[in-house]
Amino acid sequence: MANEFVARSLDEVRFWSRIMKEHSLFLKLGFRCEDTQLINEANQFYSVFESIENRANAFTVETDPHTIVRFNEEVHNAASHIWVFKRKVLGLILRCQLPGANNFPLLVDHVSREANYFRNRLTELNTGRLEPLPDAIIDENVFFLRIMADHAKFISHLLDPSERKLVDQANNFSHDFDQLLFQARDLESMRPQSQTTPLLDQFLDQNRVSVKALRDFKKTARDLIDACRVKSIIHPLLADHVFREAERFLHIIDMFETSLTGRPVSTLHSMFED
Ligand SMILES: [Fe+2]
Ligand SMILES: [Fe+2]
Repeated sequence: MANEFVARSLDEVRFWSRIMKEHSLFLKLGFRCEDTQLINEANQFYSVFESIENRANAFTVETDPHTIVRFNEEVHNAASHIWVFKRKVLGLILRCQLPGANNFPLLVDHVSREANYFRNRLTELNTGRLEPLPDAIIDENVFFLRIMADHAKFISHLLDPSERKLVDQANNFSHDFDQLLFQARDLESMRPQSQTTPLLDQFLDQNRVSVKALRDFKKTARDLIDACRVKSIIHPLLADHVFREAERFLHIIDMFETSLTGRPVSTLHSMFED
């Protein structure tokens, strides 16, 4: 059990600290050159999460669980601070105090939701209070479906408007995921009666199909951007970032499927193998 706690903690921290580090870079790139204070703050968060990521990579499953509890607390603290920074930036943008800056408000809100998610995961790990499976299935899907719907919108808005075909495809994904999110919220409001194994299993199956399609679209977009074959203002690292978040969601869906039905999903890769 102690080993599982360490393995789960390291898996979460390795994945999300890299994500937080990259958010710092994306926020920085969206500020104006005169926003030196905000740029400095973003650079500081970059270093904080880079160092957390390096330390998480240096620990192993053999590390003393007490060390990991303290490490998780420290990371929780850093995640809380970056959340405050992101909400502050959102406030500045929405009050029109950063005219001409290039971060969409929805993007800043989105990255703050991811910081909050990371913080909650760390609390759950340290307190050992995990949600019952049927609740976790609905809550995680509500969270990630909205994240996926947002990604589709960011891709659509950051592609050059002349990339009509790709913009259309991104808009279709946006619509598809908005619908899936409404369905997930319906299931959420119908609980606990909606939490039957067949309904949850069908819910996971349906979401998996769309997440796989979006993951493949993001992979194509990332490869096109890397090869400079598409006109956009999407940073190559942002394209890879949203691809990795889709992969993460797929792993989570597969893990739920296995826990729900006891059947391993054929494409299952353990979340703890990286
Ligand atoms: Fe992200
Ligand atoms: Fe995201």
